[in-house]
Amino acid sequence: MTGASGFVGSRFVRAMLGKYELLVPTHAEFDITSARAVQRYIDLHRPDVILHLAALSNTGYCEQNPKQSYEVNVQGVENLASVAANYDAKFVFFSSDQVYNGNEEKGLLQENVPVSPENHYGRHKLLAEQRASELCPESVALRATWMYDSREADLPTHDNFVLNVKRALKEKRPLAFATREYRGITWINEVVDNLPHTFVLPAGVYNFGAENLFNTYETACAYCAMLGVDSRDTIIADTERFPLHERNISISMQKAREASGGAIHFSDTLEGLRKYEKHLASCR
Ligand SMILES: NC(=O)c1ccc[n+]([C@@H]2O[C@H](COP(=O)([O-])OP(=O)(O)OC[C@H]3O[C@@H](n4cnc5c(N)ncnc54)[C@H](OP(=O)(O)O)[C@@H]3O)[C@@H](O)[C@H]2O)c1
Repeated sequence: MTGASGFVGSRFVRAMLGKYELLVPTHAEFDITSARAVQRYIDLHRPDVILHLAALSNTGYCEQNPKQSYEVNVQGVENLASVAANYDAKFVFFSSDQVYNGNEEKGLLQENVPVSPENHYGRHKLLAEQRASELCPESVALRATWMYDSREADLPTHDNFVLNVKRALKEKRPLAFATREYRGITWINEVVDNLPHTFVLPAGVYNFGAENLFNTYETACAYCAMLGVDSRDTIIADTERFPLHERNISISMQKAREASGGAIHFSDTLEGLRKYEKHLASCR
């Protein structure tokens, strides 16, 4: 697997140690933008599955650095997809719900809805999906949502929804959430638990994360209510963001659920937040 030092990869490795024979080359050992390095490593190790998590995952950074985003998020996928096809390995990699960020439909989006992403990151993820299926017909692309976890001493953690809300509450600092944005937000533990089921999915593109019918402001208010705190002065409704059209990147999980015979299952966003808080309480 690639990206083992990242947010998702580090947690997957921790959860799966002993269950799989995992090869976890570092970025320095295995730069996915080098076709030659990729070919050499795969030739040496001949994996059954290539789980590709390495990426430039920060959308803002990709917007500022489109060339680098293209090299890592598109060409990196091409390099791996080509060798996966040559060695008959299953190729599973992460795309993103950001492919839907130009869509105007309402409700939970299915994978077959036409998409035209509005930023480099979304466009590159979409292009990577297309190139992977051309180069490696056995590839599985997972359109992941925004993920969260606590900060853990030994694991990398990005800013995420729960950390942002809790920091704002602690510092009593107002934090705005868009009323015109709809997106799923997923606890990383559910992503990690579901990932092994993707190794046997039929090839294709799959949404992969929590569904959510609430807007991001409503989600933040509901989360604060779960925490038992009064959020009126902290969680602010931003009614102006996304003025041209509501931003709906909320995914439907129907396809992955059915294709896996029910093995792939995510809580919806609010249920996931409830389970996450219960988990934290049980660890205290
Ligand atoms: N985190 C989210 O909420 C989220 C949401 C939707 C989709 N995704 C997607 O999910 C996947 C995993 O995301 P993540 O949050 O775990 O990412 P992350 O924390 O940013 O980790 C990225 C990983 O990629 C490695 N990497 C970067 N460039 C590389 C290169 N040229 N060659 C080899 N390795 C390279 C990094 O290694 P170094 O640190 O050593 O450079 C790191 O291990 C990505 O495809 C991301 O786009 C993430």
